[in-house]
Amino acid sequence: MPNASLLSLLTPVAVGLGASVVLLIIFSQLPSSSRLRALGPVYFAATLLLGLALLLDGEGLLPLGWPRDVLLATLVVSWGYIVFDLLEYLAFERSLARRGMAVPRLVRDILRALALIALLLLVTSRIFGVSLSSIVISSTVASAVIGLALQDLLRNVIAGVALQIEQPFAPGNWVLLRDQPMRVLEMSWRATRFVTVDNTHVVVPNANLAQVEISNYSLISPVQALHVQITLDAEHPPDLVKRVLARAALTAEGVLDNPAPGVRLITYGEACVTYDIKFWMHGFERYIETRDAVMTNIWYHTRRANLRLSISARELFVHEADAHLLSEKQAHALRQVETVLGRVELFADLSPAEHAALATRVAQHVYGRGEVLVRQGDLDDTLFVIVTGRVRVETVYEPGGPAVQANVLHAGDFFGEMALLTGTPRRATVIAEEDTTTLVVGREALAPLFEANPALPERLSEALERRDAQNSSALAASAPAASPNDAAESPTLLSRMRSLFGLGGSQGGQSSP
Ligand code: CMP
Repeated sequence: MPNASLLSLLTPVAVGLGASVVLLIIFSQLPSSSRLRALGPVYFAATLLLGLALLLDGEGLLPLGWPRDVLLATLVVSWGYIVFDLLEYLAFERSLARRGMAVPRLVRDILRALALIALLLLVTSRIFGVSLSSIVISSTVASAVIGLALQDLLRNVIAGVALQIEQPFAPGNWVLLRDQPMRVLEMSWRATRFVTVDNTHVVVPNANLAQVEISNYSLISPVQALHVQITLDAEHPPDLVKRVLARAALTAEGVLDNPAPGVRLITYGEACVTYDIKFWMHGFERYIETRDAVMTNIWYHTRRANLRLSISARELFVHEADAHLLSEKQAHALRQVETVLGRVELFADLSPAEHAALATRVAQHVYGRGEVLVRQGDLDDTLFVIVTGRVRVETVYEPGGPAVQANVLHAGDFFGEMALLTGTPRRATVIAEEDTTTLVVGREALAPLFEANPALPERLSEALERRDAQNSSALAASAPAASPNDAAESPTLLSRMRSLFGLGGSQGGQSSP
């Protein structure tokens, strides 16, 4: 019967091939993320097994008894798994996801596990002939034993399901856990992983998470507020303090200007007052740096505004008791300023008496690295002399345009003469490149010296014109159409100077080289 044996050979081959084709079609329909793709070789092996089983069966060679049952059970389970995968894809990814309903991975895994258990029960009862009731009884006993042994694991899994359904946070969210902000990395069956701002990996069992209070910073909005509290001397007027602290927070790197920082007086203490500063930032990644920037700025801003950060009552007592020590200290500081003024080239021609008089009318301010001392466009009329440190001068052609570095100034240099002499807005932005101490001289302190020392306004206006020309060419190089600080302004500059300082002569006019 050659035909019959050929047929019995061809049929299993055809069935094996057919099954492979069906699998290929299913594969092409599945998304690349489907686990069926990852297990592809296993299922192709299953189709081969199917062909082989049928071939052996047709030839009457299939072993009887348990080897046949195992072969059959393997086939049914692996094919059942393929069908579950396909159903899961159709139900959760095609229809529910398209309607905007996302089913958590954990729930899907549990449904799949239940389906697989049902299939295994079916296979065991149908193929191996074990009665379902005996399986149920023995599985009840087994599950009681296993349940006791795996109590913790099950608790975590159940808590994990609850967290997945309730979704108090999602991967990527910033949460406050154990008093520490952390970013959620991923949630699994047993535990949830977080990463702290120090890059420490924290794994918390789901059962523990279900019992603690968690604050989610990212659920409402990606913009976050932080609070810092600062205690100052009680003698300072709260409105002034609030203005200075708000400015310090606003100018710190990473702080948003909208919503703007807010300062509230929260409590009166022993000779001190505590303020709360609330400021906003984007996300939590850089919260330590932003907090540091605000705290650092507060030191510089309060110092410049002569606000004293909180001191202990004992320190206050010592200061008050030793008032003459205090005035001695002030006199010493004054002498120091006088010495500095004498060394600055700009004031080299002034007499010692003029140095001494000027010393009483200048303020000494310290700026931290990155702080803006003067901002282009601001209206102001103070001149800065650098005592120690270094600043960068930047200018832009138009607001929001790219900044061009115009110069770097060091100890002994001065800046701010443009606004001071002309009364126009600042023409450049000056930023501290390191901690920088400056003497700040107002127009009213300088004006009286101009009549007696014509070299002083000359030096200032020379610097103004030289720097203006330098900036114009620097800006022209970066934006060819630019001619922002037109030299044509020079005539008006002189007339402005004369009217601002009440100068009658032409001393400012002989300056241009
Ligand atoms: P003012 O415009 O009042 O404020 C910004 C200051 O930056 C400006 O005065 C000058 O003193 C200073 N400035 C501007 N351009 C330069 C420059 N090219 N070199 C040095 N300093 C400059």
